[in-house]
Amino acid sequence: MQVVVVNEKEALSTYIARDFMNYVSGHNRVVFGLATGSTFTGVYKKLVHQHQNSNLSFKPVMTFNLDEYMDLESNHPQTYRNVMNRNLFDCVDIDKRNTFFPPIKKNIRFSVYDDMIEKAGGIDCQYLGIGVNGHIAFNEPGTSFTSKTHKVALADATREANKRFFDSKDQVPKHAVTMGLSTIMKARRIVLAASGEKKAEAIRGMLYDPISEQMPATVLRQHPNVVVVLDRAAAQFLEEGEYDTTEIFGAC
Ligand code: GLP
Repeated sequence: MQVVVVNEKEALSTYIARDFMNYVSGHNRVVFGLATGSTFTGVYKKLVHQHQNSNLSFKPVMTFNLDEYMDLESNHPQTYRNVMNRNLFDCVDIDKRNTFFPPIKKNIRFSVYDDMIEKAGGIDCQYLGIGVNGHIAFNEPGTSFTSKTHKVALADATREANKRFFDSKDQVPKHAVTMGLSTIMKARRIVLAASGEKKAEAIRGMLYDPISEQMPATVLRQHPNVVVVLDRAAAQFLEEGEYDTTEIFGAC
């Protein structure tokens, strides 16, 4: 695992946006795994800016989002489809027919999503956030490392953390469909981003705790090509010398 620490969240967004743009400019076709959540909002803002003010085109891009809530109306502003449309897809020249989310209809074989990803040639780069309890996507502690896309009951800590997007915790859905840990591990490269002191303990656990299903993010230590990008607050439990520090210059 390569660990990169930047000064603050703004620099983290710049680092990830540049990473994304390098992929797009270097390839005729690129398949990304994308995350929602506040860690990535700034990244998408920068990508939209680059599209509007520079020559960044999303025409070669196909995307598979990590997860989606169940039991929300399709026009609810907090479905991850609507969040992604608002923050990115509606603002750039992506072909929306190339943007995918886990299937949330009842009575469906959720792992059909894994088949779709495979049919697309697999994910070139998976961008990931991390939950305060060490979840990745919505793979809560205890999820099998061999899991494919599946339905989950959201942990109380996750519903508590995500209530800020809803009027109250009661309104946070209790279930979601998420890529599984084996789905995520199949990506050719993974970039995990975390910002703020609230994430520091999860990052410490991911890097130093025993690899265990009780700490889902530890599975990433078994992947050969992972970059972890942190701001100083999220990296506060790391020893200096265990990571590269990068100064980010310029807006994007
Ligand atoms: C959420 C999402 C994840 C996200 C993570 C961190 O619950 N399901 O995909 O990466 O938790 O979210 P945030 O960036 O808002 O802290």
